[in-house]
Order: sequence, then C-alpha cells, then structure tokens
Amino acid sequence: MSLLVLEALFCFAFIPLSHSADSLIESTCQQTPYYDFCIYTLQSDPRSSTMGLPGLARVAGNGLNDTATDNLDLVSGLLGSTNNASLDKALKVCIGSYNTIIKVDVPGAIEAALRNNPNLGIDYTRDAAKQVDTCEKSFGENKIESPISGSNTAAYELIVILQSIVTIIL
Ligand SMILES: *[C@@H]1O[C@H](CO)[C@@H](O)[C@H](O)[C@H]1NC(C)=O
Ligand SMILES: *[C@@H]1O[C@H](CO)[C@@H](O)[C@H](O)[C@H]1NC(C)=O
Repeated sequence: MSLLVLEALFCFAFIPLSHSADSLIESTCQQTPYYDFCIYTLQSDPRSSTMGLPGLARVAGNGLNDTATDNLDLVSGLLGSTNNASLDKALKVCIGSYNTIIKVDVPGAIEAALRNNPNLGIDYTRDAAKQVDTCEKSFGENKIESPISGSNTAAYELIVILQSIVTIIL
C-alpha cells in the first residue's frame, strides 16, 4: 500500500520533469487558440525542443511560409484553369495577398522576432491576417463562393499562432 503511494508520488513528481524539454512548446501553445495545430507546427522542426521563443517564432513563420506557398500554388492553378471573369478577378487578389505574405510579412515577422522587436513582428502578422482576409473577401465581392476557404483558414490560424508567440516575447 505504502509502496503504491510512494510510486504514485514518484510518478507525480518526476513525469513533468522528464517532459521538461518540451515544456516551452507546451506552455507557448497553451497561449494560442489552436493548441494542437501549434504543437504540430512547432514539432515539425526536430530542433524546436531546444529553442527559445524567437526560435519558435521562426519555426511557426516557416510553417506559415509553407502553407502560404501551397496556397499560392493552389490559387495559381485555379487561375490557369478558369475563364470565369469574376473568379479570375478574385484569384488575382489572392495572388497579391499571398505574394505579400511570402515576400514581406513572413520574413519581416521572423526577422523582427529574432532581433527582439516584437512590436514590429506583430505589425507584420497583422498585415498577414489582413492579406488573408482581403483574399477571402474578394470572392464574396465578386459574388462567388470561395474555393479556397479551408486553405485560407489554415493560413489564418498559423498567423494567429505566430502572432501569439511574438506577443509572448513582448
Ligand atoms: C518562403 O517560401 C518561399 C517559396 O515560396 C521561399 O523562396 C522563401 O525563402 C521562404 N521564406 C522563408 C523565410 O523561409
Ligand atoms: C462565374 O461563376 C459564378 C459562380 O459559379 C457564377 O455565378 C457566374 O455567373 C460566373 N460568371 C460568368 C461570367 O460566367
């Protein structure tokens, strides 16, 4: 009986310690609205368990970059295969949005986080969120249902994750 109690105490005391390498990732992701997606994204880099917050911001930024690149490819593919003028118009807006995210917002946010300038990083993530919003709304403005709303949502959630991490640095 007392052995069991001791064993229980032992486990209680030492299990959290044995997971301490990932505790920054866990505590960081708990401060984002998308815990599972955050863990999945940060663990995509095998070195993330030894990183500080600026390094984690870079990993999240790389994840956003990958998704933004996928979305840009998707939009380019759709653009090449439509002759619907309204859809064409909206997709062109999205090309601009994702080019800005890839060329300006992601590198800007990563660099700002690494240089310990979280306010600037937050400005870049706010712009990225605005870009996704502009892309998604362009379909409605052209009276078509968005063919990429799931992809836009994934990008948006990654932006929120990145922004949450940069905000913790603040
Ligand atoms: C983001 O992806 C593009 C390809 O779309 C690549 O050229 C660029 O180097 C990537 N940026 C970062 C910060 O990894
Ligand atoms: C473009 O597609 C939308 C949605 O499918 C449709 O409502 C609209 O009539 C189309 N426009 C043209 C010019 O074909």
